[in-house]
Order: sequence, then C-alpha cells, then structure tokens
Amino acid sequence: MNVLVTGGLGFIGSHTCVELLNANYDVVIIDNLSNSSIDVLEKLEKITSKRPKFYEIDACNKEQVEKVFKENKIDAVIHFAGYKAVGESVSEPLKYYRNNLDSTLTLLEVMKEYSCHNFVFSSSATVYGSPKELPIKEDFPLSTTNPYGTTKLMIERILADVSKADNDLSIIVLRYFNPIGAHKSGLLGENPKGIPNNLMPYIVRVATKELEILSVFGNDYNTKDGTGVRDYIHVVDLAKGHLKALEKSTNFKGIEYYNLGTGTGYSVLDLVKTFEKVNNIKVPYKIVDRRPGDIDACYADPTKAYKELGFKAELDIEDMCRDSYNFIIKNKSN
Ligand code: UFG
Repeated sequence: MNVLVTGGLGFIGSHTCVELLNANYDVVIIDNLSNSSIDVLEKLEKITSKRPKFYEIDACNKEQVEKVFKENKIDAVIHFAGYKAVGESVSEPLKYYRNNLDSTLTLLEVMKEYSCHNFVFSSSATVYGSPKELPIKEDFPLSTTNPYGTTKLMIERILADVSKADNDLSIIVLRYFNPIGAHKSGLLGENPKGIPNNLMPYIVRVATKELEILSVFGNDYNTKDGTGVRDYIHVVDLAKGHLKALEKSTNFKGIEYYNLGTGTGYSVLDLVKTFEKVNNIKVPYKIVDRRPGDIDACYADPTKAYKELGFKAELDIEDMCRDSYNFIIKNKSN
C-alpha cells in the first residue's frame, strides 16, 4: 500500500514514517522544508534501512501534487503539513488560513481526480476550546481560541462536508493531545528554531543551559499543585496511532474522530520533577503570570480510540522525559 505523507519530515510526520516503513508500507513524502530539515531523510533510512520516496514540494501547489499522484499510485494520504505556532497564528492569521486550508483543499481535489479515497488528518485537542468537563470525549462541543485552532476546526468541518458528498471516502480525524518525547535512537525529535513556545522543548533547553530558567505560567490554576495540567503523549505512541487509523480507513466509509492521548494529566511541575529525576539534572524554574489563553487542565478520554482502533499509548511520562533529553544532547551542537 502506497501512503502519501505530507509534512513527513516534521516532528510527528517523521516518527510516523518510521512506523509505516517498519510495517512495510511504501511511503512517499512531500515536505516543503519550511519547518523541517532534509537530514531527516537520511535518519529515516538509518533507522529503518529503507529510503522513502521524497518530493520537496508544497502541498498547496496543485500542479506539483498532481505530479506526485501521476508518478505514484497513491492509496492513502496522511496529512501533517501545516503551520502550528499558536502565537504566530494570532499575529499572522492570513498566513495560517491560506496555508492550512489551501493544502487540505488541494490534496482533497487531487485525491478525487485520482480516485484515492483514504485520508487521515492531523487535528488537535485545541478544537475542544475550554472543555466543560474532563476527561474530554470526542462528542464534546467544539470551539477555538486562536487562528491556528480555527484552521483545524475549519478543516474538520470541510472534511465532514466532503465525506457527506462522496460516499467512497474514508476519513479519520485524529485529535492529538500534547506530543513530546523523541525516537529512542536520538536521531529524530523536536528541535524548534528560536525560543520554544511549548513546555518540553523549553525544559530541554534549560537543562542544556542554552536557556537560563523555565518560566512556569501560573500556579493558581484549579489543579492539584496550581500549575497547568495536560495529557502528554509520547510521539512514538502517537505515530503508532496513525497506523491504526490507516488500517481503520481501509475497512470503513465515512468520517470518524479519535482522541490520541493517554488519558492521564500531568502538571507542569510533575513534568519538571520527572525530567529532573530520570535525567539526573536540575531544571531551574520560576513562577510567573499565567499565559493568556491557557486553560487549567486538558486530558483525553482515550476509550474510543482503544475500542475502535485498538490504540493504547504504552510509553510513560518517564520515557517521554528521557527520550526528549536524549535527542537534544545528541543533537546539541546544531
Ligand atoms: N508552560 C509553561 N512554561 C512554558 C511553556 C508552557 O509553564 O514555557 C505550560 C503552559 O502554561 C501549559 C503547559 O505548560 O500549562 C503546556 O503548554 P504547551 O505550550 O507545551 O502546550 P499547550 O497545551 O498550550 O498547547 C499544545 C500545542 C497546541 C495544541 C494544544 C492542544 O502547542 O498546538 O496543545 O491542546 F493546540
């Protein structure tokens, strides 16, 4: 089975390519390298001893996407490519709407032209806005608080309409909670350019002394220690969830939505303490004001993915902290 992976050299995309290649799928990657590096291709080959086909193109460019479909018989698409920085989406909303919507529309149009019916989409728990209760189930009301989240929700709505209009389509929407961790080899992981926005990338930079101190955004939330609680999921588990979704997409028609999380929430201080313990290193931190737009707590009810996809996260918070640090020390001189 030939799977087209858009954004396949990115953080989640690359880990998913490893799992696909190891499971003997034929993988075709498209990536415009806007937030990834071509070196990842060699690393995929090192890990799997297989070299996926690669096109350096933008998923918004219809002619180029058509060329990929012409040259390869694509059976399914996993669509990761997209901008994902919440803060940037607030200051540059048009960039987010143009890119994230356009790439999805282009792929769906070309899939239709080439009779490709299976689509797996990278959505986010951000579509639940401020959930009214926890844990979060897939049928909770949806809303967003920033343009990035709105692009995810708009795409979900587009997919629902497209699914209604075309009975041949199988669409799986995966709503990720907070992916962290890295591949065991230390070859793949998350290394954002500039000062990181997200917690784990920030913690590792403090641990390596590239940044001085972690700012913990608020300790007056309604949580056990007052700091924000999230459902952190190891990126390798998340990647495996995509294979389960792909299997499901080949034996059903319509659209389905799944949370990919562990079901357990950890606070900012839980993560810091666990990181310090497993890596035997200090992470200095200070408590500062809340970050605008943050919520107290967010964690998944993972039951639907378990029952219908057979997906269950297996790696724990210690694995996540160990693997995130291992990746950064192996790639530090960059
Ligand atoms: N935090 C800090 N200090 C930091 C960074 C984060 O205390 O320097 C805290 C936040 O306040 C929050 C927690 O750590 O309580 C996690 O924050 P992240 O920025 O790592 O993650 P978010 O939950 O805010 O957002 C992430 C992704 C979004 C996605 C969302 C889905 O960044 O893209 O999860 O719920 F939409």
